[in-house]
Amino acid sequence: MTHVAPRTGASATIGGVEASTQAALPPGPKLPKLIQTLGFAVMPARFFDACRRRYGEVVTFRTLFDSGFVMVFDPRIVKDIFRGDPDQLRAGPANELLGPVLGERSVLLLDGPEHLRQRRLMLPAFHGQRLRTYETIMREATDREIDSWPVGEAFQSLRAMQSLTLDVIMRTVFGVEEGERYRELHRAIRDMLDPISRPLGVLVLTLSLARRGRSRNVQVFEERRRRVDELIYDEIERRRRDPDLAEREDVFSSLLLAEDEEGRPMTDAEIRDELVTLLVAGHETTATALAWGFDLLLHHQVVMDELRRRVADGDDEYVDALVKEVLRIRPVIPAVGRVVHGEPFELAGYSIPPGMEINPSITAIHRRPDSYPSPTELRPERFLEDDPPDTYTWIPFGGGTRRCLGGSFATFEMRVVISRVLERTTLEAVQPEPDEIQRRGITMVPRNGAPIRQLRSPRAGRTAAPAAA
Ligand code: HEM
Repeated sequence: MTHVAPRTGASATIGGVEASTQAALPPGPKLPKLIQTLGFAVMPARFFDACRRRYGEVVTFRTLFDSGFVMVFDPRIVKDIFRGDPDQLRAGPANELLGPVLGERSVLLLDGPEHLRQRRLMLPAFHGQRLRTYETIMREATDREIDSWPVGEAFQSLRAMQSLTLDVIMRTVFGVEEGERYRELHRAIRDMLDPISRPLGVLVLTLSLARRGRSRNVQVFEERRRRVDELIYDEIERRRRDPDLAEREDVFSSLLLAEDEEGRPMTDAEIRDELVTLLVAGHETTATALAWGFDLLLHHQVVMDELRRRVADGDDEYVDALVKEVLRIRPVIPAVGRVVHGEPFELAGYSIPPGMEINPSITAIHRRPDSYPSPTELRPERFLEDDPPDTYTWIPFGGGTRRCLGGSFATFEMRVVISRVLERTTLEAVQPEPDEIQRRGITMVPRNGAPIRQLRSPRAGRTAAPAAA
């Protein structure tokens, strides 16, 4: 790790924070790396809280997996990061663990002009009007999922939501309908994603790939990835020949038609990498957020009753607030990363050297009592007040030029799924308390999969015409 000599200097106000002693790096725990690693793995929220109280809003940590990084707990400082020069604060290197799965042209791994180009090409596929065309697909996928649930028997809501969100992605992003191609792609994708959704899965895979050994892990993964690639390249070829391509409404087809300012379309390799990126970034994340949503709702009867009432009245405002509150109290991704490039980055009076990663802590920022009074309480009303949390205080989708491309897609899908489930059936929680939070890969999931039970057969669903635009 690069060390920069401490600077002396007068007080400065950066990100609205008074920093009277300027130092090279922010202070942080002197504990051995092993202990800090355990703090992160076993009880991150308590560990961060203790460190924040002791060292302040910007803290340097060191674990067994890095040579030091800086966590940020204050929204005012996060603002300086999200509005910083994207060429100096790079997200690509912070996401590189996902490289073997996503491919090198993935929007998540690129930086600078290349990132902007890919992002611009992809953005139109996620705009508001386009989302409304997906409502019917989302509603029908929810109906199919509900119809497959047992009555009176416990099952994991996380599993159920994974199957639902994969179905939605297959139809809205890939534009593949029921049939042999759907089943083949579905199977191949699940097989490839399997290692990513296990605890430490991404890490184990990356370490195995880095050793370049032909371990069984690596071989199996590469075979599965090749299978997905074959199917995608085959589909690209078929679509390019499809005379109705321009009429299609799925994201895949929009990517095939998209052109940059110089009129250049995406290459097949770029399309493959972006499709896999959308799949990896969009499927488990939304499933996890939905599972947390049901877990929290089923343990908060007052909120559940209010939500039922509002949904029955056709009022979307409250369910949207509930979705925001779920993403606040159970953020699926605990932190985002930016790696300093070129010159040291000045942050709250400290100088962060090139190569070092800065992480706005989503978990800690969402639990600040000064932004969210009684922060552990589920209160959707927070988002309905006159002065709702701003874009640096509510950050489940990160921010700046790297903000999640699928944020609106995910919140819209959550609204459709939660409303539909409440309209058609009655669920109960299996555990007396909300599930515990566990880190799995890059997400924070319910340890036991948030088990639920359906109390009676669902009301008829297929016939109810969805209000699609
Ligand atoms: C609840 C569900 C989701 C959560 C919590 C989530 C969260 C995030 C976060 C934290 C980032 C990093 C942002 C940053 O670095 O500042 C991100 C990036 C991204 N997400 Fe999501 N996401 C979700 C759903 C989706 C969906 C449904 C899609 C697409 C179908 C998607 C596509 C992406 C893409 C493409 C990026 C990379 C953006 C870039 O680097 O420019 N996400 N997401």
